[in-house]
Amino acid sequence: MNSRFVPILLLVLCSPVLLRADDTSEKRVANIVILATGGTIAGSGATSTTTVGYKAATVPVQALIDAVPELKKIAAVRGEQVFQIASQNMTNDYWLKLAKRANELLKQRDVDGIVVTHGTDTLEETAYFLNLVTNSDKPVVIVGAMRPSTALSADGPINLYNAVLVAGSKEAFGKGVLVCMNDQINSARDVTKTNTSTADTFKSPELGVLGYVQGDRVAFYRLPARRHTLNSEFDISGIDKLPDVEIAYGFASVSRTTVDALAAASVDGIVYAGVGDGNPSEVTEQALADARAKGILIVRSARVGNGIVARNNEVNDDKRDFVVSDTLNPQKARILLMIALTKTRDTKEIQRMFYEY
Ligand code: DGL
Repeated sequence: MNSRFVPILLLVLCSPVLLRADDTSEKRVANIVILATGGTIAGSGATSTTTVGYKAATVPVQALIDAVPELKKIAAVRGEQVFQIASQNMTNDYWLKLAKRANELLKQRDVDGIVVTHGTDTLEETAYFLNLVTNSDKPVVIVGAMRPSTALSADGPINLYNAVLVAGSKEAFGKGVLVCMNDQINSARDVTKTNTSTADTFKSPELGVLGYVQGDRVAFYRLPARRHTLNSEFDISGIDKLPDVEIAYGFASVSRTTVDALAAASVDGIVYAGVGDGNPSEVTEQALADARAKGILIVRSARVGNGIVARNNEVNDDKRDFVVSDTLNPQKARILLMIALTKTRDTKEIQRMFYEY
């Protein structure tokens, strides 16, 4: 072979964008699968002004797709109803079912990306769970709505359109699981629900959005800094039950009742949502230490919402053999600890994971 062609051949072989599955010379629309799980985006109310008192998780996935005929212009879309729940009822078992189905689809050459429609109450948790256990660089975009599909100015249809646009974009490759709502693109790791009812509820406080959708343009301005998806060490393919990890909440004059009750229930791990820098009181620190002595893994997170929970600040974590959550909020620290416990109970290894994911 003429040596002049070798560099070009290497470029083609190393560039996933040029080698997308069954690509043809002319531009083709992306093949996107919508995995529906319920929530307000699939909700319905009695009148067009019912934005409170509606019923979540009633509209099936095909009806969601049919309600946005514009989807046909931007992607070849098909839907699967994985389950149909209000997301406050999300469980570890539902997560395993969703993640395993997503991984099956992501392996398929005729699938370019996935959109998950979801209730907003636990949307950030499902997003982070999938961020840790989906093993592909193809886009996985989680979307919900704050108004039911029957409401005036329902946000679900435009959110779904934008989510499909992002899932079918080459820009979204390799950026981890994304949450796309209200024209903003947030990372699964940093996003959280910040308002009980407004359409702009999902934010990544202090750490910020990754990008925006404007018209049909998908634009990124930042990249996730932590390990995710294809670069994750976690594999749930052989797992049918996740470890039991619960959260105890800190506040002034807190007693040891909650921690003791969790320890008595022999949970595998406790995340403590401490005050300030993840601080337990003296009473609850002793309760956590007693739980640790029973072999229960302890992670100190913070109820504060932003900032780093640092090792050995006001708690001697080395002495107590506690792990700190870094910047993960309690509900996400629970997810990482749960998945970490499928691999190890070694606190040094688990602390490494909290500094890498
Ligand atoms: N029950 C809530 C849920 O399914 C409705 C909120 C929503 O989806 O916006 O998460």
